[in-house]
Amino acid sequence: MLPIVTIDGPSGSGKGTIAKTISSQLGWNYLDSGLIYRVFAFTHLKNIDFLHEFQNFTFVLNENLEQVIFKEENISSQLRGPKLTKLASILSKNLNVRKKLYKIQRSFLKKPGLVAEGRDMASVIFPESKIKIFLTAKLETRVERRANQLRNTGQKVNISELRNEIILRDKSDSERENSPLEISEDSVVIQNDSETVEDAAVKIINLINERY
Ligand code: DC
Repeated sequence: MLPIVTIDGPSGSGKGTIAKTISSQLGWNYLDSGLIYRVFAFTHLKNIDFLHEFQNFTFVLNENLEQVIFKEENISSQLRGPKLTKLASILSKNLNVRKKLYKIQRSFLKKPGLVAEGRDMASVIFPESKIKIFLTAKLETRVERRANQLRNTGQKVNISELRNEIILRDKSDSERENSPLEISEDSVVIQNDSETVEDAAVKIINLINERY
């Protein structure tokens, strides 16, 4: 069985940074499942057949920022913009959509191993994983992190609007009927407010060495 680490948590919990750091330290594959939902929202908006066209989306991990190229166009900032953020959250409630994305997400599991981040990585997509992390942080820490992410991709940020968006999206992601964001019983919870990325990454790498 290939080794898998799942990292679930809400927006701004720092799961992206930690997952990318660990995957590059270990040389393992990386799945940002939220980005798959965003790509799905993009295809929905543009009337593109998702399953048929998925192979034409290229994911490039560059200096800790994952870029998405579609037919030679860099669509990364569009995918992370407010419109597709909202649409991805809405579409992700639909069970048929979740089923459609299941196989695509599983296809990221390749040698030598996988670090997968999202909302239901431990509970639904990779339940066989031996290392399940649930990362969380205080609302204000998460708002600040998300603001920095958006600023880094050149977007303007209104903090109080962003805070409201995060509160609404948390509510919708946690209360939805299908695969809501929740802590699975066998997860290790890491409160990621003051811990540096390195501290949290070391903790997870120690678990990997113990269990794989
Ligand atoms: O992680 P993110 O903010 O990029 O995710 C965008 C949306 O996709 C999020 O609001 C809910 C959905 N999503 C999901 O339903 N399940 C996942 N495993 C990852 C994301």
